[in-house]
Order: sequence, then C-alpha cells, then structure tokens
Amino acid sequence: MCGIVVYAGRRGADAPAVVLDCLKRLEYRGYDSWGIASLGSDGRIATLRRVGKIGAVRAGVVSRSLGIGRVAVGHTRWATHGGISERNAHPQLDCSGSLAIVHNGIIENYQELKAGLAPGKHRFASETDTEVLAHYIEEGLASGQSLAEAARGIAKKLKGRSAFVALDSRSGQIAAVRLGAPLIVGVGKGGELFVSSDVNGFLERTNRVMYIDDNEMALIDPGADGARMPVFIDVGTGKRVKKRIVRIGWKPGRESKTGYDHFLIKEIMEQKHTIAEAINQDDAKIRRAAGRIRNAFGVFIVGAGTAGRVCAAGEYLFSNIAKRHVNSAVASEFGSYRHYLTGRTLVIAVSQSGETVDLLDAIGVAKSRGARVLSLVNVFGSTLMRESDDFLMLNAGAEKAVASTKATTAQLSLLTLLAYATAGRLEEGKRLLLNTAEQVNDMLNPRYEERIRRLARKLRGKKDIYIIGRGVNYPIAEEAAIKLQETAYVHAHGFAGGELKHGPLALIGRGSPCIALVAEDETKREMISNAMEVKARGGYVIGIAPENNEVFDYWIRVPDAGNASPIVNIIPVQILGYHLAVLRGINPDYPRNLAKSVTVK
Ligand code: F6R
Repeated sequence: MCGIVVYAGRRGADAPAVVLDCLKRLEYRGYDSWGIASLGSDGRIATLRRVGKIGAVRAGVVSRSLGIGRVAVGHTRWATHGGISERNAHPQLDCSGSLAIVHNGIIENYQELKAGLAPGKHRFASETDTEVLAHYIEEGLASGQSLAEAARGIAKKLKGRSAFVALDSRSGQIAAVRLGAPLIVGVGKGGELFVSSDVNGFLERTNRVMYIDDNEMALIDPGADGARMPVFIDVGTGKRVKKRIVRIGWKPGRESKTGYDHFLIKEIMEQKHTIAEAINQDDAKIRRAAGRIRNAFGVFIVGAGTAGRVCAAGEYLFSNIAKRHVNSAVASEFGSYRHYLTGRTLVIAVSQSGETVDLLDAIGVAKSRGARVLSLVNVFGSTLMRESDDFLMLNAGAEKAVASTKATTAQLSLLTLLAYATAGRLEEGKRLLLNTAEQVNDMLNPRYEERIRRLARKLRGKKDIYIIGRGVNYPIAEEAAIKLQETAYVHAHGFAGGELKHGPLALIGRGSPCIALVAEDETKREMISNAMEVKARGGYVIGIAPENNEVFDYWIRVPDAGNASPIVNIIPVQILGYHLAVLRGINPDYPRNLAKSVTVK
C-alpha cells in the first residue's frame, strides 16, 4: 500500500517526468492521491499534490508545475491517517518547506511522537502520521545533525512497519529508510539511481537492484555529475553495511492493456496460458518441496484475502489427492497458532505480491519458532521470497488489477501440483493441469464471455448474491464472493452448501440469485439438493457446472476438470464480476478503498 519512487539523475535529466512514469507503474499500490517533490536547480523544493489516480496524469501537468530538476521523490497514496485530500497527500514538508517526506505504512506511536516535539515550534499542515517525520528531521537538522543522523534518530523511535524517504534541499541528499515495508534501490546507467516500493517502479529502466534490508537506510548523494552509489547504513548502529548489485532476470510482463478496456479482463483472459506457466517448474524443486511436506511434522498453508481462500482450498486438495492433513490459516490470524509451531513445522506462504504485511508477520512468527518457510509467490525479489527458506514462482506475470485473477488460478495450480507431487504422482498432476490449461484456453472465447455478460445484465440491479460450494469448492464459493464484492460492490456471501439450512436460507426469497459451484465429484448430489432448497424458496439458481441440471435457471458450462475444478469454477465468476462492474459504471481495475499490495495491518 502506497507507492514510493525516487529518481536522482544526471545533469539535464527530467526527474519529475521520470518519477511520474515510475509512479504510474505503482498506481495499484494506492490511488487516493498522489504527489511529487522536485529539487530545482535553485536548490528549492517544489511540490505538486493532487487527489485521485495518477494513471491519467500527463507529463505536461507535472513539468508545468515543477519545472525540470535532476532529483525528485513521488508517492501514490492509500489513505490511513487523515482523509483523502490534497493536504494529506504526500510529500509532506517540514515548516520551512526545505525537507520533503514520502512514507508508506503506519506510525503506530505518532501521537506520542507528536507530543515529544518542541512545543509551539511546529505548524502541522496535515492530519497524517507522516508529517511527524518531517518535523522530527527538521529538529535534528536544526541541531546540526546530518540528514543520515536525523533520519536514523526518528527511525529508531518509530513503531509499526513502514518505509520513508526524506529529501533535504540543503544538502541535496536523500535518505531512504526501510522499517518493515519494502524499498529497493535500482541502479541505472551512468549516475542514475532509483528507489521504489517494488521493482515494478523501475524495472523497465533498469534490472540492477540493491536491496535495502529491514532497519537499514540508503543514503543517496545526487552529486553534480550524477548520483554516486548509495551508502547503506544500519539504522540501529549507524555502521555502514556492504551491498552488492543483483541483476533481476525477470520481466514484469506486458504492462499495457493490449487492446482490452481494463487490466482485469486482460488478466482474466491471460489465464489461457498462465495455468500452464504456473506448473512449468523445475521437477527437482517440486519433488524437494513435496519431500519437505511429507517429512514435516505439521504443515500450514497461509495467505491473506483471496490467497487465504486458495490456502483453504489447498487443505482439501492435500486431503483429496495426497491423503495428508495440512492446516490452512488466514495470515492475520496465524499468530494464534504459534504454540503449534516447532522446528519441524513447514509453513507454505502463498502470495501474489510477496509484500502483504499480515503474511510477512505470519512468517515472522513461523521463523521465530524455528519453522521452515516455503513461499509460492508471483513477484520476484519480493520480501516474502527473500525471507523464505525456499520459494516457487507463480509465473503469472505482472498482475495490475487490484482484484486477483490469474495469480489466484496460478496459486491453485501450483498447490494442486504440489499435492500430486506429495502423493508421489507428479506426472499425473502435470497431465491433469496441462489438460485443464487447454480446457481453459478453449473456454475463454468471445461466445463464452457473452453468455456471462448476459447473466451480468440480469443481475445488474441485485443487491445480494449468494454462492454455495462443497468440499474443495466451498472456499472457492468464498473467493467468488470476494471477487463480486470488490469488483461490483455487491453484497456477496459464499458459504458451504450444507450450511444453508443452518441459517442463510432465511435470506433467500423470490429472485434471490444463488450461484451453485457444482463439480463432478462426491459432493455433486448434495450440491444439487442444496440448489433445490434455494429454488424451492423462490431463489434464482445459477449453476456453474460441467453438466446442465433442471434446477438451474441459468447454466454456465465449465469443463469437468476433476481435482482441478476450483480453477475452472472461479473463472466464470471473475468474468461475471468484471461485467457487473462495467454495467454498474465502476472501474473494475481500481475498487474503492482497496489497493493491490496491502502493506498495513
Ligand atoms: C482480492 C485480492 C486480495 C489479495 C490479498 C493478498 O482479489 O487480491 O484479497 O489476495 O490482499 O495479497 P497477496 O496475494 O499479494 O499477498
């Protein structure tokens, strides 16, 4: 959440324009407001802050306001402290306007810190927690400290996960401090340096990175002829830390919508190939991971949100395919399981971004108990990948729309493959999933999409949608609800088919839409009975199933994918969510109140 970008370039560089371009690539981290501060040749900081998304902003708007400078910092915000307004947008400034701060995360003790500032000396111009950083560093600099000393001083006091960048116009220096939220340095050509919340910010410009680790600062001196290599400093001790440049051999994938109206539908359609790519893994690595699952004493699969529902499906997949008991847990609740964790526990962490703070905290708990961590992650070089003992890439390519689609099915595919490998049937798993990939490729054709669009028209005005599933499709019903909530702002609720009669059936009335996820497995008969129970109360039953049934008022065909049924069942709901959003006039890529990388608790 919140994206930070810094650029320091050579003489003649247009830093605000570069920062604008890089920030657009991070827009999915937050789109409540944005801002850029530029250090001009007159040594002054000029700022531009606006409410709304940065995506459509033209370079001319920025250069007209900020002129040309070699050094700039930028931010795209997901609001935490303080409402969505220009004055709460970042960069935040100190009282003199000669220090600019951008920040990602939450300063849990900001009220205490605010009270600790020299009384009556500071003018607070915003309601943000971030501004306290500006005034603390301002006090440090006024007392003769260097930027590094002043930034370290406040960094040591902060509680909560965060990252911030301070640009000081007097020294021209930039301090980029990582305290649990990601920040990465990119080393460009001949004196060009970047800092970004994730590599997507600058990967089109350089693939040479230097990782700032937790409780470290990168100090950048822009120099007259281009930025010098940053100095890395341990925040706690003040000592220098050695770093090396790592080349990222990973491409973020096609960035544009390539002919589609929105990233969401583009990414849904990319599932024609991403399922096959997810299981295109090194066999030896998969077998090693399967061996660890077999030998562990206690396996947990952990993720947040959609990834959490995937983990819950994983519990069924391992039971059905490998006859093994694994536990799934929601990342934000994982701390409560700590007493079960030992040095023999394996924690499988599932994430698209690899930056979700709830998940990073969960693996922190696991590691503190000596457990081993295997991550399934989409973003190469992410914190999760780097903090795990082993990792497998999801290979889904950049996922830009906030609602996860292709990363979700990549996660499901890889977990299914791991379950087969754990059962000693890796080849069978691969065959099943490659076959499923082909079936999905066939399924995602214009006629299929049109049939779902027609359903969306019927459901357009509905306030509530229910989704039921059984067995491995029960968590998929819950995931389907998440998809409809965040794309179409509809109140959607997913539950186990068998739970209907224990309460939710009271909500069903004439015309209540209920989607039944019906797989050709041992749950089919009971699922059809549950659909009948809905229909008997006047409900409108939408069947997502390989075969039609008289109980369905509307049937969406999916292939019979056997153990891979969760993959094929969720895709029609993704398409439905997309079309409902479009029909309701909602931008499906950027749901209100949400962001792609959830880096706050
Ligand atoms: C919903 C969605 C979120 C994420 C969750 C975890 O479509 O995308 O629920 O699944 O925030 O994010 P990652 O997978 O990046 O850890």
